[in-house]
Amino acid sequence: MISRRKFLAGAAALPVAIHPVLTRAQSARVPLAMPPLLDATRTRRFKLTAQRGTTDFLDAGASQTWGFNQPHLGPTLRLATGQSTAAEVLNTVDEPISVHWHGLLVPGDADGGPHQTISQGETWAPELAITQPASTAWYHTHVHESTARQVQKGLAGVLQIADGQDEARGLPIAYGIDDLTLVLQDRRFDRSGRISYDSGMADQMMGFMGDTMVVNGQVGRTAVVPKGIVRLRLINGSNARIYPLSMSDGREMHLIATDNGYLDRPIALHDLTIAPGERFEVLIDFSDERDIALVSAPNPNQMMGGMMGGGGGGTPFVVLPFSVDGALLAAKDRVPDDIGGSLPQADGTGASLRDISLDMPMGMGMMLRGGGNRFSVNGAAFDMEEINFDIPRGTVERWRITADMMMHPFHIHGVTFQVLSQGGRAPATQNTGWKDTVLVNGSAEVLVKFDQAASRDTPFMFHCHILEHEDGGMMGQFTVG
Ligand code: C2O
Ligand code: CU
Ligand code: CU
Repeated sequence: MISRRKFLAGAAALPVAIHPVLTRAQSARVPLAMPPLLDATRTRRFKLTAQRGTTDFLDAGASQTWGFNQPHLGPTLRLATGQSTAAEVLNTVDEPISVHWHGLLVPGDADGGPHQTISQGETWAPELAITQPASTAWYHTHVHESTARQVQKGLAGVLQIADGQDEARGLPIAYGIDDLTLVLQDRRFDRSGRISYDSGMADQMMGFMGDTMVVNGQVGRTAVVPKGIVRLRLINGSNARIYPLSMSDGREMHLIATDNGYLDRPIALHDLTIAPGERFEVLIDFSDERDIALVSAPNPNQMMGGMMGGGGGGTPFVVLPFSVDGALLAAKDRVPDDIGGSLPQADGTGASLRDISLDMPMGMGMMLRGGGNRFSVNGAAFDMEEINFDIPRGTVERWRITADMMMHPFHIHGVTFQVLSQGGRAPATQNTGWKDTVLVNGSAEVLVKFDQAASRDTPFMFHCHILEHEDGGMMGQFTVG
């Protein structure tokens, strides 16, 4: 472990603490805005234009940002289950981008991974056939070695897969009123108030940590909610931060959906940890009209027991304050008992086992491989030209993922999986639904069925969703056919 010491000596420890609140904006109680809703359920087509723009996050000066159809981030796309939607993505920024539909179960040629870059001036037009249940997904750029920087610039947005049954389920459905879309991101700003992504050694190792909370691309806002039941669709669009979430007064969050769909019934939780790439939907009861906040504990990802400092430090902080407008009544005044989703319930016996080890560029490997400063999977850094494995379509596999040094959110494209275990124990309650991303703390096992086809030209990715790790090589690719 001499090499670890060497690494530590060389790395700059950057303690960061997220600003609890931005007092100026906070006192003004500026209401949080939702991303615009782009409902394609009737039109069955939509267009996204990746564009440059400026965004003044702190009322201090314009930052150069990117977005889809707007200066920063993108619209919430609503697609209907059981139908096919014609997507059109035009890139007007001056470098190649891609649009990956994270959470959509579509074939590799529509997936938008690193083999499907769109050059400036080009259009990519995949057909998105939605055969999966209702859920909250998201989309983001996925260009190898540029994903972290491009997402941080703003190339991300939310996807809703809708089946029109939420009213029958007893769930809130009024977009931006009692059904809130919340993209959680932490960002850093320089002295002039402009967004900055100057990732140094610590950022590369730990993943980029911001010092300011940004929700839906906005800083210091308050969500104004009606009295009653409010649905929060939480999307962790951060590069690396893990949020151990709770409500400031300890009230329950009623979990109704995980990454790829609804639970059978709500689960009352006091704590909900959301890692990069994950989505969770919760119901919060605001009928007592008390103003509370969604809060987060510090990022739990500490390397080597916190010796590294870095992302591990900090104090609890406010993610989003809520202000209840008592004159506004929510459509629902109770949490439904039953929401009718189906939970994955196989036990995995008979499924073939595949071992995936997520490796940090340190320790013996780093020294012996001549200082190859790469993140890797099973000992090899991601190589665009190298297909890691070919999986017959329809196969069920048990993936045993191991990770050292840090927690890593592990994501697989083109599938939804069941979490069988985490750290050798039964999965956390919050992970009993369908997932496409799971936080690996030491180890995790998932049971996966490969139903979507992916060729050698457009294979599916599997990777750590800490974007600096992914860009650094902690990614692999496979075909299904
Ligand atoms: Cu959300 Cu391969 O990504
Ligand atoms: Cu994905
Ligand atoms: Cu990682």
